[in-house]
Amino acid sequence: MSTGTDTAAALDARATRSLVDPFGRTITYLRVSVTDRCDFRCFYCMSEHMSFLPKKDLLTLEELDRLCSAFVARGVRKLRLTGGEPLVRRDIMVLFRSLSRHLASGTLDELTLTTNGSQLTRFAGELADCGVKRVNVSLDTLDPQKFHAITRWGDLSKVLAGIDAAQAAGLHVKINAVALKGENEDEIASLMEWAHGRGMDLSLIEVMPLGEVGAERVDQYLPLSLVRSRLAARYTLEDSDYRTGGPARYVRVKETGGRLGFITPLTHNFCEGCNRVRVTCTGTLYMCLGQEDAADLRTPLRASEADELLQAAIDEAIARKPKGHDFVIDRRTKQPAVGRHMSLTGG
Ligand code: GTP
Ligand code: 5AD
Ligand code: SF4
Repeated sequence: MSTGTDTAAALDARATRSLVDPFGRTITYLRVSVTDRCDFRCFYCMSEHMSFLPKKDLLTLEELDRLCSAFVARGVRKLRLTGGEPLVRRDIMVLFRSLSRHLASGTLDELTLTTNGSQLTRFAGELADCGVKRVNVSLDTLDPQKFHAITRWGDLSKVLAGIDAAQAAGLHVKINAVALKGENEDEIASLMEWAHGRGMDLSLIEVMPLGEVGAERVDQYLPLSLVRSRLAARYTLEDSDYRTGGPARYVRVKETGGRLGFITPLTHNFCEGCNRVRVTCTGTLYMCLGQEDAADLRTPLRASEADELLQAAIDEAIARKPKGHDFVIDRRTKQPAVGRHMSLTGG
């Protein structure tokens, strides 16, 4: 903790020191869930009847900016706004616009978002104007009925129009698809051909046991080791060194010329190289997606206009970043790894 005896020089040194966890991993990537709300109800993410955080508990956009900027001051080079669905948060472009000053000053390499795409027709142009270069769009199927079944509330045509708008605005689009047993497993090759045909990368994701969703995870879980071997029977998958700072490991698909990413929290743990933490819309810092431990940053943020208390709370939290997640999906394990849903932490 900061004490009254800290000198200005000591505070200054702290403010410029990078964030290194007990395992020697440097934190350079902050994921910010700007709302826990969403206009979809994907069956692997949320239960049918969700309760959301009261609006009064949310940080304001100005507070979110201050929080992000405090991390940027400590060496974070990549900021990703997530949700829920980030583009349903009112006036969210105000936050993108203000954060873009860190791109302009060179202290930030990337400002980006993960979205379900439903609002992109409205916002793609402005995002590009704020310096966003890449967006990740979650899309698990190209079949309209299946899409509706997976998202419960979603309309595929709006998402496809959103992707068109993003590309028209010059944004690089990466498609994220959760590999779902019996749902999209027969469609993965065609989803990949479609994405690569449009110049988009595709990342496949293993379902993670986060929150009660009213279904057995074991019935949803499709190991990517299996998906990969099926794809390898049809395509030439060439290992690639390409990295984005996220957890995906990429291959280049010779026949399509596109990139395919594998995000494998279950079959191949990638925590060793973890460079990220996430904060929620209430200012709660989660040091790991798969662990319960969290730190309250809202109290120190609001306690003073200067950032010393906030920076001290960040230091304390990073000092106890856990080694990794312990996800298990099998018939015997009924409990989720953590109680909170993906929509709260933002992935
Ligand atoms: P890129 O910048 O394109 O690499 O994106 P990203 O993979 O970092 O972010 P995105 O929001 O597209 O996340 C894709 C998937 O990776 C989501 O399901 C996230 O939950 C998951 N993911 C991201 N970081 C972690 C992590 O630290 N641990 C685990 N288990 N999953 C993560
Ligand atoms: N397991 C894996 N991925 C999930 N997503 C949402 N919930 C889960 C889950 N339980 C995905 C979304 C989006 C990304 C942020 O996380 O589809 O692409
Ligand atoms: Fe919404 Fe994304 Fe969760 Fe689907 S996965 S309900 S789009 S937050």
